[in-house]
Amino acid sequence: MKVLVIGSGGREHAIIKKVSMSPRVSKIYCAPGNAGIAGEAECVDIAARNLIGLADFAEERSIDLTIVGMDDPLVAGIVDVFEERGLRIFGPRKNAAIIEGSKAFSKDLMKKYGIPSAAYETFDNPAAAIEYLKTSRYPIVLKADGLALGKGVLICADYPEAVDGVKRIMEDKQFGSAGDCLVVEEFMTGREVSVLAFCDGTRIAPMTSAQDHKRAKDGDKGLNTGGMGTFSPSPFYTKAIDAYCMEKIYQPTMDAMKREGRAFVGVLFVGLMLTKDGPKVLEYNARFGDPEAQVVLPRMKNDLVDVCEACIDGCLDKISLVFEENAAVCVVLASKGYPEHYEKGYQINGLDKFIGKEDYYVYHAGTKREGASIVTNGGRVLGVTAKGKHLQEARRKAYEATAWIDFKNKYMRTDIGKAIDEA
Ligand code: AMP
Ligand code: GLY
Repeated sequence: MKVLVIGSGGREHAIIKKVSMSPRVSKIYCAPGNAGIAGEAECVDIAARNLIGLADFAEERSIDLTIVGMDDPLVAGIVDVFEERGLRIFGPRKNAAIIEGSKAFSKDLMKKYGIPSAAYETFDNPAAAIEYLKTSRYPIVLKADGLALGKGVLICADYPEAVDGVKRIMEDKQFGSAGDCLVVEEFMTGREVSVLAFCDGTRIAPMTSAQDHKRAKDGDKGLNTGGMGTFSPSPFYTKAIDAYCMEKIYQPTMDAMKREGRAFVGVLFVGLMLTKDGPKVLEYNARFGDPEAQVVLPRMKNDLVDVCEACIDGCLDKISLVFEENAAVCVVLASKGYPEHYEKGYQINGLDKFIGKEDYYVYHAGTKREGASIVTNGGRVLGVTAKGKHLQEARRKAYEATAWIDFKNKYMRTDIGKAIDEA
């Protein structure tokens, strides 16, 4: 069968690597892809937001299954466009992708259905938000309602910082129209865990857990980014916590979405905070996490195409997810300056060192081919993943492999997975 993957990051590279292992798949396309993906799939130059162009392409090439990696096209309704034309596509419809597309929607949903999360208020007027913040407890969390590349969250230490944050989000529109509405949320403390789950509209099957490192610098300092590295599984996410989350969070979220006439099909990403009062939802996303996918998918034993089809066909009960009894660590190699200003266009050396090395993966994110070379073309450039018997071994191997790669302005965190030592 022919598969089309939509997106151009490390997550999509990891999805494609996994899809390519399916004996059912004869041809993979990726729109728009990147220089690494081009080694395993035919890249087509159609932007991920060009929904009609993508549907035309899928029709012309008789694509049997389209997998959407990115949030943007999902929130814009790509699944609806494909379904109207009878094309098979894996992901939530627009009315379900809103669980990621609007934080106000997801907070209201959790409140209505009693799903544990932080206390909050929403505002569409900056003056009212500033008035409310006068009597708030600090630190406090400000979130732009809409999509903001994982960067629309500000943690404010005091009232002046919060006032400044409201202005940045709602008046200066630092995150564009995502800031038309503001969510003000109670600050929670605890360990963060990401759980990605396959959903068929009724049932939900969580994958193995992962932990992201969102801040740009060591010690969780610096700005929030899309993610600087991950490990899987999280040693803090115990079987008891998983059972609690299934009962209080995962299945109730599926039931709530169905009850609202927004049945969720695709991958639901639940960002959790393990607080002293139990796990609470930090955020939902409507797709695989990036870089979470870069540690979760290499550990998955199932055929990804079978699982996606079971979700689309509403028969996830026929699938039993199986993950390897090992661990994986991914270290993101970024361009110095990310997530703010950075330069690109620098030659990347050492990619060939990964060829033929079992348990080592180099997933491309911001890369581009220029003549005979591959050059940097984004903030997050590569994700270097290694698998090991346990987390310590996986981390040692992942950092060993980061040294194989060389490019000007290469930057990485040196403490990905440090929390493992406290487990
Ligand atoms: P989000 O995009 O909602 O996951 O937020 C990005 C990051 O901000 C999270 O991964 C947390 O580290 C932090 N964060 C978000 N909401 C809260 C909260 N209510 N309390 C503490 N930290 C938060
Ligand atoms: N790593 C967080 C995300 O994909 O949103």
